[in-house]
Amino acid sequence: MENRSLVTIADYSKEKILYMIEMARHFEANPNSKLLEGKIVATLFFEPSTRTRLSFETAANRLGARVIGFADPKATSSSKGETLKDTIIMVSNYADIIVMRHYLEGAARYASEVTAVPIVNAGDGANQHPSQTMLDLYSIYKTQGTLEHLNIYLVGDLKYGRTVHSLLMAMRHFDPTFHFIAPDELKMPEEYKIYCQQQGIRYVEHTAFNEEVIADADILYMTRVQRERFTDLREYERVKNVYVLRNRMLEQTRPNLRILHPLPRVNEIAYDVDDNPKAYYFQQAQNGLYAREAILCDVLGIKI
Ligand code: CP
Repeated sequence: MENRSLVTIADYSKEKILYMIEMARHFEANPNSKLLEGKIVATLFFEPSTRTRLSFETAANRLGARVIGFADPKATSSSKGETLKDTIIMVSNYADIIVMRHYLEGAARYASEVTAVPIVNAGDGANQHPSQTMLDLYSIYKTQGTLEHLNIYLVGDLKYGRTVHSLLMAMRHFDPTFHFIAPDELKMPEEYKIYCQQQGIRYVEHTAFNEEVIADADILYMTRVQRERFTDLREYERVKNVYVLRNRMLEQTRPNLRILHPLPRVNEIAYDVDDNPKAYYFQQAQNGLYAREAILCDVLGIKI
């Protein structure tokens, strides 16, 4: 049987991405249907989440499915030493789709190899976050009218930020120019820069974050410095407030600029940005519902 898991966005072709955007658009216009009636969606969150878990669960409910799962692994038998493999095999007895967030890179790939039930990667360590990428792509498409030839500025924690890693890979089809803005400690890892070179993706690296640097941005993708990824908390303290986007920095930016952030934010976007029409991060999170309805249908082979 074909396994339709969504483990990495790299598995999506350009045609598939555009198809999924059309699906998301359909669900934005028609959020409620019974396409998943009788199905069970399991949400296994081994790491904290607000948006990803709740939007997947809302998507499942809006599609007529029922939801089982956990948000706190301490309340499960994994806290007694049950392996991930055994947990996945058990949940496969109960559910038609498994949405999983895990702190280990590669956990979603591993899970997809031990079950025939589709796995949706809801974030695996610092590796990938493909459903976030689908909602990011949908948000970029909605705000720019295209995914082609855009200047995309990724700001903050580019080392551990799985959302930026996934977005970078997805955009390979659309001739982007990336600007990586990060302190030395949080630079884009070499493997992703090599990926850009192999895929012919242009990129420029910066350490400064100011009005001049972002003047040509179409998309400004802010990220949080993730305390939970640091083994040395002194290093976290050194870099945690390194970049803060303030409203006055947006005065000379392009009219089409939109500010995205996967959220949660801590203090990398000042609150005075929230009322700027270029701020799009809360609408972006709402788009997650429609993108995830599309993903839940797609992993079961359901077409509109
Ligand atoms: N963007 C995102 O993954 O948010 P949560 O951690 O709240 O799910």
